[in-house]
Amino acid sequence: MTKRVDLYDSTYSHFTEQVLEVIRKETYGQDIGQNSWLTVDEYDRFISWLSLLPEHHVLEVASGSGGPACYLANNVNCRVTGIDANESGIASATQNAIQFNQSHQLIFKIADANVPLPFEDNAFDAVVCVDAMNHFPNRLSVLQEWRRVLRPGRRAVFTDPVVITGPVTNNELALRSSIGLFLFVPPGVNELLIEKAGFHLVQQEDVTENAALVSGRWRQARQRHRDALLPIEGEERFEGLQQFLAEVYRLTSERRLSRIVYLAEKHAG
Ligand SMILES: C[S@@+](CC[C@H](N)C(=O)[O-])C[C@H]1O[C@@H](n2cnc3c(N)ncnc32)[C@H](O)[C@@H]1O
Repeated sequence: MTKRVDLYDSTYSHFTEQVLEVIRKETYGQDIGQNSWLTVDEYDRFISWLSLLPEHHVLEVASGSGGPACYLANNVNCRVTGIDANESGIASATQNAIQFNQSHQLIFKIADANVPLPFEDNAFDAVVCVDAMNHFPNRLSVLQEWRRVLRPGRRAVFTDPVVITGPVTNNELALRSSIGLFLFVPPGVNELLIEKAGFHLVQQEDVTENAALVSGRWRQARQRHRDALLPIEGEERFEGLQQFLAEVYRLTSERRLSRIVYLAEKHAG
C-alpha cells in the first residue's frame, strides 16, 4: 500500500529556507515561488491569453505560496486575490505581500475551492488555476463557481496535470496521488464540463512536456541537496517525495498521464 506523502504543508512552512530556494532555482530556472509544473515562460503565455489591464482583478485558485500571484500582480500591475486550502501557504503568501509592500494589490485567503467561493457574482476579470484542478473532485460545481464570480466575456485558464492518456496501473496511480486527494479524468471530460458550466472552450493545449521537464529536474535537484533537506523533511518524507517525482516524470515522459491547459470564456451578456 502506498503511504500518504506530505508535499504542501512542509514545503509551504519552510518555503523561505535557503535550500528550498536553491532547489527551486535549479528546477525552474526562474524561481517565482511556484510549487507546481509551471515555468515562467509558460505562465507568461497563460497570462497573455487573459487580456489583463491594470484596473483588473484576478482570482487565483490554489495560489500556493503566493509567488505566481505576486509575479502576475507585478507584471500586469493589477490586483490579485489568491485562495488556497493550505494555511501555511496562505500565511507565507500574506507575509510576502507585506514584506514587498504589495498588500494593496494582493490578498490571500484560506478557502476550499471545492465549496461555494466567498465572493460576489461578477467580481473578477479572470480566474487562474495552475496544477490544482486534480484536487477538485466536484469539478462541475467548481467550474460553475468560477463562472459565477467572473464578469461576462472574461476568461478562466487552468491546467489539469493528470489527464489519463495511456495505460496506468493502480500502483502508478497510487504513487502519483500519494500527496492527497486526486481526481483523474480521461480526455474529453474537462472539455464537456467547461461547456456544461456555461463557458465556451476557447482553446486547449498539451503542456505535458513542462511537467516531465520540471519533475525530472526537481527530483535531481532534491537528490543533490539531500543532506540539507533531511533535517527539514526527515528520511521518510524525503524518499516519499523522490518516489512521487520519479512517478510524475515516468508517467508524463511516457505520455500516459498528460497535462493539458484549458482556456474558457464566460458567455458575454
Ligand atoms: C501543485 S500546487 C500548485 C500551487 C500554485 N498554483 C503553483 O503553481 O505554485 C496545488 C495547490 O492546490 C492547493 N489545494 C489543494 N486542494 C485544495 C482545495 N480543496 N482548495 C483550495 N486549494 C487546494 C494546495 O494547497 C496547493 O497549494
